[in-house]
Order: sequence, then structure tokens, then C-alpha cells
Amino acid sequence: MPFPTITVSDEQVAFFHANGFLSIDRITTDEEIERIRSTYDEMFARRAGREEGMEFDLAGTDEEDVVATLPQILDPLRYAPALKNTLYEANALAVSKRLLGPEAVFQGSHAILKPAHYGSETPWHQDEAYWSPDFDYNALGVWMPLQDATIENGCMQFIPGSHRLDILPHHHVGYNPKIHALEVDDGAADLSGAVACPLFPAGATFHFSRTLHYAGPNRTETPRRAFIFGFGTPPRRRKTSRDLYWQRETTTYAAQKRATVSARQQAQKT
Ligand code: NI
Repeated sequence: MPFPTITVSDEQVAFFHANGFLSIDRITTDEEIERIRSTYDEMFARRAGREEGMEFDLAGTDEEDVVATLPQILDPLRYAPALKNTLYEANALAVSKRLLGPEAVFQGSHAILKPAHYGSETPWHQDEAYWSPDFDYNALGVWMPLQDATIENGCMQFIPGSHRLDILPHHHVGYNPKIHALEVDDGAADLSGAVACPLFPAGATFHFSRTLHYAGPNRTETPRRAFIFGFGTPPRRRKTSRDLYWQRETTTYAAQKRATVSARQQAQKT
């Protein structure tokens, strides 16, 4: 892993804790963005991880013969090793330690492609709505676009202060449990004060795992690519689980494929 080349000021750390998000102008070099982008496009072109349920349409029912409007790949570092050991990751970790504490470690990655012209919106949600209800978290997401990110192509938008809310009720988009994406329930939060964070390539946003966020549809001529990391301090097991009932309703094809893979792995172990 390269040595980190950036840090954030005390004022930026304070802003993050007050508002639940932070936007920075540069997290890596233009050269690295170019390199990541070609690997990223190749990975989506071959639909890496589809068989295992790690590539799927975030915004639709993910049938084999339907065009995905919001393809996502979980754990892209596994499918494209060229994405490992980037300056982006080194800097994202260094900043995360400043924002969360020195125990913060890498907790995962994903990639969301918003195709030109028809890429769907990413509805308002808190990331913890997707996570295990058995733990408490001190965690954040780092979101880096591989081209300009604008309101027109789906840059990140946040509700300031929403990281202090509890986990709000969510539902599957369209109340369809075959769709992976979750959306906060209507009226559960005041979404009127949203702050959009447009970025140039090599900029990034950081947000707490409870911060409400959204990205609009892509109405432009070019794909909007985002490469996302998660960092956090070790999750603490709760005495009682949260009731995140919407997770129990999930019937996505991708979740079924992942369950099959994990059952096969268990069977091989015994
Ligand atoms: Ni999110």
C-alpha cells in the first residue's frame, strides 16, 4: 500500500462530526483515476461476480434479460486485483482514522455504475439499514467518482445532521422485495435541507453510516462511475438486535445466489 499523501484539518474533522459528511477536492492523482477507470469499465463489461450474486441491478428486479439501470459490484477488489493497493485506499484510510479514530480499518468496497441517459437514482437511505442488526457501528463510506460528479449525472447529496438520527424505517424500492435498493419511508425524515456535493475527478465525499444520502439519476451523455470504500472501528455486538424487518423480506436473485454459494462452502468444510 502506498504512503498516504493527504490529511484533513481540525476544521474538516469538526465539520464531519457536526454535519455527518465531508467533501474533499483531491484524494488521489489524475493518473490513478485513469488507471482505475479502465479496470473498472472492463470489470463491469464482463459483469464480474454475477454468478455468485455479487453483481446485480441495485434499482431493478435483476432479471437476466432486462437491462440493469443501476449495476453494482460488491467487493470489486476480489474481481479486479488491479484495484488493490491504490493511493485512493491509502488516503481514504488515513482520513478515516482522523474522522473515526486510529482503530479504523478497511471494511469493504463496492462499485456503482450509473449508465448514461437511463441510470436510475439511488434513493434516500442510511447505509446501516442494509447492515447486520446485531451490532453498533462507528463507520463511514468514502465515495469517489471516476469523472466529474454533478447534480445532472448523480453526485452525492446529504442531509446535514442526519447521522445523529436512529436507524429510520426503510423499505425496498417500490415495496418490491425483489429489488435490492432500500429507501427511507415517506415522512420518516425531513429531506428538505439536502446538500449536493459535486466533485471533480479525484475528489471524494465521506459520510457516516447513519447519514441520509441520495444520488440522482444520470441524465448525461457519459456513465457516472463511483468507487466506494467502507472503513470503521470494530463493530460492537448489541445485547439485543435491532428489528430491521425490511431485511427479512428480501427475495432478490442476488441474495439467493449468495446463499447458495455460502451453503456450498459450508458443505465443503464439513
Ligand atoms: Ni449508501
